[in-house]
Amino acid sequence: MTEPLRLGIAGLGTVGAGVVRIVQTHAAMLEARGGRPVTISAVCARSRNRDRGVDLSGYDWEDDPVALARREDVDVLIELMGGEDGPAKACVEAALETGKHVVTANKAMLAHHGQAMAEQAEAAGRALKFEAAVAGGIPIVKALGEGLAANGIERLMGVMNGTCNYILTEMEATEAPYETVLEDAQRLGYAEADPTFDVGGIDAAHKLALLAAIAYGTRVDFPGVQTEGIDRISLTDIHQARDMGFRIKLLGVAKMTPLGLEQRMTPCLVPAGSSIGLLAGVTNAVVVEGDFVGQTVFQGPGAGQGPTASAVMADVLDISRGQVGTTFGVPATRLAAAPRASDAGAAAYYLRMSLQDAPGTLAKVTAALGEEGVSIRQMRQYDHEGGAAPVIFVTHPAERASLDGALGRLGAMEECIDAPMALRVEIL
Ligand SMILES: NC(=O)c1ccc[n+]([C@@H]2O[C@H](COP(=O)([O-])OP(=O)(O)OC[C@H]3O[C@@H](n4cnc5c(N)ncnc54)[C@H](OP(=O)(O)O)[C@@H]3O)[C@@H](O)[C@H]2O)c1
Repeated sequence: MTEPLRLGIAGLGTVGAGVVRIVQTHAAMLEARGGRPVTISAVCARSRNRDRGVDLSGYDWEDDPVALARREDVDVLIELMGGEDGPAKACVEAALETGKHVVTANKAMLAHHGQAMAEQAEAAGRALKFEAAVAGGIPIVKALGEGLAANGIERLMGVMNGTCNYILTEMEATEAPYETVLEDAQRLGYAEADPTFDVGGIDAAHKLALLAAIAYGTRVDFPGVQTEGIDRISLTDIHQARDMGFRIKLLGVAKMTPLGLEQRMTPCLVPAGSSIGLLAGVTNAVVVEGDFVGQTVFQGPGAGQGPTASAVMADVLDISRGQVGTTFGVPATRLAAAPRASDAGAAAYYLRMSLQDAPGTLAKVTAALGEEGVSIRQMRQYDHEGGAAPVIFVTHPAERASLDGALGRLGAMEECIDAPMALRVEIL
């Protein structure tokens, strides 16, 4: 009989328990598809007595993830604990040191240490795979690295944080403000008790940095992702965007420009009828534009037990079939450090500001925009509320530097209450 592929699973939470469930449910199918049985040698979590809804009685228990990683009866370490450093990093390094393959769903760890880990894995001829770390159940890592590998990637875009997309679509559907919807999301288990990583765009920026490395053959550059969260988005913005035919999304964009690699994870206006504009709830989507294939759209569940475990096990099957490959599509030592594009290309912007109710204010604002080279396409002004009037502009395409110049001047005007807010309009 063919030797089994033996797993060690570090982390038995949402995803880890899902992986155990797939191994138990689909043993025969995994063997048929991978060409050898897939078995679990040992598992590890913090609390041994917690009921995880799966039968763990047939597996050895380890309290220490590093000890699990070093076991001789483990061929693949599956790291599902999370955290960019600490035990996750320690056990992945121990696994690679002792000649194991590694599968992980940990985008934070890879965004910070992926380059070094990929080099370590490849030097040892082992796999380091992370399909589950980006957009959960959507096989986008494989799609970019394999199915679309013959294309120059012109632009990569994605809504890759279900919590943010849920909050933005619920605000539009229920007319409830950001804070209320965030509390609902926490109650429903869509958002963490500390939502900073999600709503601040950091979680999604980790994912974008990983995909950009595959798309452009560059080293993962998470600090190079311009990141902005959704906490400043108001109901006014959502209504205005809708009335003008747009929706607001926390949108990741990666693009290679003559100035270098542009990576942004920021709230943007997108056409309401586009694939991204139509995306509702916790669903994720990634759009890849290749020079030969054109535009491709991948959509599906970006998180949750089943989808994430499904992606983990797809990586395990690759290893089972002997497909070790490279972590980011080209050998890690050949990944180039891309210069950062300091300026995104010209785009239209949505501007929201609150102006004092004083004669001549609007003229001063439009003059400041004009003098900085920002021309106005649409403008809306609303009734004054307690001496302040919300005013919305949509500009013609403008360079970011011109816009920043205008925002600086507007922010310094005494008639401008609060710093003006600008959201890029991304056309797709
Ligand atoms: N949940 C999702 O939908 C999803 C989607 C995509 C990617 N991911 C990623 O998948 C990973 C796991 O996520 P999750 O949602 O499954 O997390 P989770 O439910 O919080 O589970 C984490 C597991 O790790 C164990 N653990 C934590 N610290 C440990 C330590 N020092 N030693 C041993 N075990 C330890 C915990 O043990 P106890 O159970 O005993 O506390 C728990 O079983 C993360 O990297 C996450 O970003 C998750």
